[in-house]
Amino acid sequence: MKYDFNKVIDRTGTDSLKWEKAKGMLPMWVADMDIETFPGIQEAIRQRAAHGIYGYTIYGDAWFDAYIYWWKTRHSFEIKREWLRFTTGVIPAMSSAIRRLSDEGDNVIVQSPVYPAFFRIIKSNQRKVLENNLIYNRETASYSINWTDLEEKLSDPNTKLMILCNPQNPSGNIWDTDTLGRIGDLCAKYKVTVLSDEIHCDITARGKEYVPFASVSELNKKISVTFISPTKAFNAAGIQTAALFIPDQELRRIVTHGLSTDSIVEGNCFSMEAVTAAFTEEGADWLDQLRMHIWNNRRIAEDYIRKNMPVLKVVPSDSTYLMWVDCSEVVSQGEDFSAYLENEARLMVNSGKAFGGNGDCFIRVNLACPESLLKEGMERLKIGVAKR
Ligand SMILES: Cc1ncc(COP(=O)(O)O)c(C=O)c1O
Repeated sequence: MKYDFNKVIDRTGTDSLKWEKAKGMLPMWVADMDIETFPGIQEAIRQRAAHGIYGYTIYGDAWFDAYIYWWKTRHSFEIKREWLRFTTGVIPAMSSAIRRLSDEGDNVIVQSPVYPAFFRIIKSNQRKVLENNLIYNRETASYSINWTDLEEKLSDPNTKLMILCNPQNPSGNIWDTDTLGRIGDLCAKYKVTVLSDEIHCDITARGKEYVPFASVSELNKKISVTFISPTKAFNAAGIQTAALFIPDQELRRIVTHGLSTDSIVEGNCFSMEAVTAAFTEEGADWLDQLRMHIWNNRRIAEDYIRKNMPVLKVVPSDSTYLMWVDCSEVVSQGEDFSAYLENEARLMVNSGKAFGGNGDCFIRVNLACPESLLKEGMERLKIGVAKR
């Protein structure tokens, strides 16, 4: 490999959320990587920093071209320039869209278990969360959509929005064309707008391609707002740079007005550099190697668990660098297993409870790290499980 993804980098002294909160534990929780940010981004930022004036930034042709180029070459989808808007982050923009596209008291559907921030932004905007729990098959440790329940929730006249996590965090489901088409048809039938969070789309297993929700049909284009960013795939979450694309003119007008009112349309001067450096041929080459490293880590973790902790079940995943682990054979309902692992094994993972649905007895483990840290994490997990 051209890049060394196994180099251990000490993050102390960088105000890292992941490491500071861990207070000496091994952190395998929040979704950033203990792997160097793509070197092309580092170099672009070094050059920009060397200029010495960090004034207000505009998002010009290079920014638009970078997103358009990447979706066309990586995801075979043409984003039109006029659809795109800059924003400082997926979550601030989604929160803003919720305020603009629904009223207080309205329902917003999520498919649980799912990224916990969705619950927070729905509730803090005084909207109601409707959980369309994914169906869990314990035999295969896999998730699928409960269509009857989804239609019932969409048909509630108070339901205005559905948040789609495409691909899904934490289960790693990549939703296929048929599924996305069916969601689109149902949402259109009940006049529900889809907020499609596609931030994890670039981290997929070899040969597994994500499908942009809007690419599936003209109908899907018309009823959706899509949130994208290079920050997960290239490890640049701290730079705070993201984008939305909204094909429908009227939807775009409403959401754009909201972004502007909420003042989340101006980024720092490095946010432009990160995007134009990442979405390049060199970025693609780095990303392809990173994906190999992540799926190698996934294989190591899965093998280790199978051999040493057969009571745990790993949910097979084709995307994200997150591993969703069913611990129901060693955890009782309502117990916080992540807190137990912190105390007993000095290992910090995400508690499944926060993800809703059947997440209660699950943990989410971040696999985006050097192999040595991964192995240490697996050993700690084994210590915790052995004490049960
Ligand atoms: C599904 C999903 N959406 C959004 C985010 C956060 O995006 P941002 O930092 O751009 O707000 C995350 C971070 O882990 C995520 O997993």
